[in-house]
Formats: sequence, structure tokens, C-alpha cells
Amino acid sequence: MGLPIGYDLLFYLRVSMPHLVAPSLLSADFADLKSAVRVVDESPAPWLHIDVMDGVFVPNISFGFPVIKAIRPLTKKVFDVHLMIVRPENYITAFRDAGADLLTVHIEASPHLHRTIQGIKTAGMKAGVAINPHTPVAALEEVLADIDLVCLMSVNPGFGGQQFIQRTYQKIEDLAELRKRTGSKALIEIDGGVSTGNARQLVHTGADVLVAGNSVFAAKDPAGAIRELSV
Ligand code: DX5
Ligand code: ZN
Repeated sequence: MGLPIGYDLLFYLRVSMPHLVAPSLLSADFADLKSAVRVVDESPAPWLHIDVMDGVFVPNISFGFPVIKAIRPLTKKVFDVHLMIVRPENYITAFRDAGADLLTVHIEASPHLHRTIQGIKTAGMKAGVAINPHTPVAALEEVLADIDLVCLMSVNPGFGGQQFIQRTYQKIEDLAELRKRTGSKALIEIDGGVSTGNARQLVHTGADVLVAGNSVFAAKDPAGAIRELSV
């Protein structure tokens, strides 16, 4: 557990695989999280995507520290924790202690984003920034070189199983260009409405990480769905 400091995610990805899959626990059976984590643990997906919602930043409440802590001993996979909460800066060390390896905050919830990113890195985690569908990629310009991941929301955050927003393809292209221009090594993660129907095109357009909730855990064969999304 815990990514080594200085570990270059983009480099790792480029040399080892074309993209990586991060199954989202949000669509799993909450009464049997152990089995869901086991499916991911035994799969080729190197990350587990964990959605934390507060009912304030988004109109839904999911789970928090105790659940993350409880599943942490079950797998060594990277815990990719997506905070859909207000004041994420108040909980950085608490999420680190619960087991987060990579902590993603929303730009829309972070008036002092630069400080929050530094705080996440100082706490020993990788830092990600998520942007909602209405937020332009250009809003990331001043922080892109400092972060490890950009989470492009391809649905409005709050719920699993929503329809993918097509405009995301253009945002991936814009972000890839901005990444080049700023010398950033941030991974491009796509979150929302990812399925076997669009995974290939997303990777082809420039996605590095595919979050998949419904298309994995609502599938008859979740392990098979992860394998399909991984190739
Ligand atoms: C939505 C969450 C997503 C969600 C994706 O607000 O951030 O991670 O689990 O679910 P699907 O893949 O079902 O759209
Ligand atoms: Zn998410």
C-alpha cells in the first residue's frame, strides 16, 4: 500500500500498459464490499476508485473514513480516492490515515487549490484535481505541472450509472495539449459513463485511466468486464 514518493505514474503507465482501469466501488453491493474488493484484487485493474460524497458538494452521500479503513487490509491495489466534498483540505491526513494513495479534490470545492495540492503531497499522497463537466480544462493551467492526475468528470458527479457526456472527448484533447505545453506528467482520468462501448475511443483520444462503476459492478461478470475494459 502507498505509492512510493517520486513514483512516476505516467512513466509507469507508458512502459507497462496503454491505460489502466479503476473500478468504482460506488456501484458495488455495499452489503458485501469484501467480495467486490476481492474481484478487483484478483483482476488486472491496478487501482480501486473510491467515491466520497458529502450531500453538500453533490446531492448524494456515499461513505467515508471507516469504510475505507475497513477495506484497506483487503488489497494492495492503489486506492484512488475521489472527494466530492466541500472543504476537502480539512480531511487530508484523515484520508491518508484511512489508506488513500491518491487523493483527488474538486477544483469547484477548493478556493485555495494550490495550498490543498501541496498539503496532499506533503501528507505523502499523489494529488489529483477533478473538474465538473462545466469547468473548462484551461482552469487547470496554473496547477497542472504540480499534480499527478486530472479527473475529467464525464457525468455530473453524485451518482453512478449516468450517461456519458460526449463533449468529454474534446476536453481530453484540450487537456493533452495543455499537459504538453506545461510540461505536466498528470494522468488523464475519465470518470462517469465509461463502458466497453466507449473505452477504446477514450484511450485512443488520450485517456490514461478509466473509472468504471456501473459497467463493472452491474455486469453479470464483473471480473470479465474489468478484463474487457483493460485491453
Ligand atoms: C460519480 C462518481 C463516479 C461513479 C462512476 O459521481 O464520481 O466515480 O462511480 O460511475 P459510472 O461508471 O457508473 O458512471
Ligand atoms: Zn469518481
